[in-house]
Amino acid sequence: MPARLSFRPKALADTIRLTVLAKAEWPRHAKSLSAAHRRFAEQNGFVAASGTHLALPGRDGRVERMLVGIVADDAGDGSGGWMWGYAGLPLTLPLGSYRLDPEPATAAAATRIAIAWGIGSYAFDRYKKAPRSPASLVWPTLADRRTVQSFVRADGFARDLINTPAEDMGPDGLAEAALAMAKELGMTASVVEGEALRAQGYNLIHAVGRAAARAPRLIELGWGDPSHPRVALVGKGVCFDTGGLGIKPDAGMKLMKKDMGGAAHVLALARLVVEAKLKLRLQVLVPAVENSISGNAVRPLDIIRSKAGKTVEIGHTDAEGRLILADAFARAAEEKPELMLDFATLTGAARVALGPDLPALFANNDALSSALLAAGLAHDDPAWRMPLWKPYRSRIDSKNADMNNVSDGPFGGAIIAALFLQDFVPREAAWAHFDVVAWSPWPRPGRPEGAMMQGLRAAFAVLRDRYAP
Ligand code: BES
Ligand code: MN
Ligand code: ZN
Repeated sequence: MPARLSFRPKALADTIRLTVLAKAEWPRHAKSLSAAHRRFAEQNGFVAASGTHLALPGRDGRVERMLVGIVADDAGDGSGGWMWGYAGLPLTLPLGSYRLDPEPATAAAATRIAIAWGIGSYAFDRYKKAPRSPASLVWPTLADRRTVQSFVRADGFARDLINTPAEDMGPDGLAEAALAMAKELGMTASVVEGEALRAQGYNLIHAVGRAAARAPRLIELGWGDPSHPRVALVGKGVCFDTGGLGIKPDAGMKLMKKDMGGAAHVLALARLVVEAKLKLRLQVLVPAVENSISGNAVRPLDIIRSKAGKTVEIGHTDAEGRLILADAFARAAEEKPELMLDFATLTGAARVALGPDLPALFANNDALSSALLAAGLAHDDPAWRMPLWKPYRSRIDSKNADMNNVSDGPFGGAIIAALFLQDFVPREAAWAHFDVVAWSPWPRPGRPEGAMMQGLRAAFAVLRDRYAP
């Protein structure tokens, strides 16, 4: 088990009792303390304000109990302050082993807290030792350990992929990671790479990725009984987005190692699906490219025939994500999925509209959308729906091709991108598209600056409901 799963199987003599309280619960709780501890808390000004903690000393000077303030459980409003409060603890509390006192009363609460603890123990330490290791938690008795471990591993796996610089996580590295994962989980895997993309009609993936030193590729993983309902997961795997010939200014380019965040999300989701042995036939598609610059780079107003057959005019080389996804969608369509989810760091516009906490959700199916939104609220992983507003579709008409990849104005950029994708969605499929940021721009409890998962737990909850084993 990796060290990041900072759980201890048993409460040993040296474990510290951890009591987590909302501010409103403090006066009552204070009354239950010894007079000495009550005075100690008072002199330290501790009132269980969210984000504060207080170590109550025992007679021998050891910590007898740790008190922690947290915002009240907001289950239902989805903002997740309660869960992130727990996630903030492993890297805030002094090193040690803690056991919850009282124990969570339900399996759901115990599991939710343990997931938070695990996610909050994450550190990106590939190139530098983490400044400290996480405090560990004695497994809450009722926690579903398998589910917790699966989530925490999937989350850490994906965040590592996103945090790793493009130098070490190019299309080759991403394919390697996907293939290693497939091997570990017993999934089938194949990769179409370089010129072979063109031979098989994936001209958009090839066009976007061909200028890079590391060849573009389409990674495909498969799993599950072919007689089960088919589900496709597609993730944008732009390992670095320079913008292409329409180069990004330096500030806009800086973070573009995370432009494969969608790919990381669907690989993590696939992990969860396989480990939970859901009753579905899974197809995972990751077009992996670097949107780079060279003499052979795709140019503005080039027209490329997509895998689906439609011709696409390149209005802007920086709207590359929708291009590679279109070809991946065409491959998905060949398997006639009943459900397709895609995750992509597709537009800056989604982030401008909703900020970094809320991924933009688009769906061609109201039941699917409602299920995802509800699961987001229930699992501290909210999304916000935006419309596939048909009247805007004419903005990407092209004079010389079947469509353009951009509109000519700054309006509704996330919607325009989603409408472009919609033209390639497999017939009959219920489809949902998550336009994610995948990056926490400032440090918050449980969410340090860096890679951040969005919609993963919500999407998995919906799949688990629909395809329960
Ligand atoms: N990867 C970017 C979108 C992005 C930018 C996501 C910043 C998160 C943060 C995408 O490929 C892109 O460049 N989109 C353009 C589209 C435009 C050229 C129509 C954008 O959003 O500006
Ligand atoms: Mn771009
Ligand atoms: Zn991009």
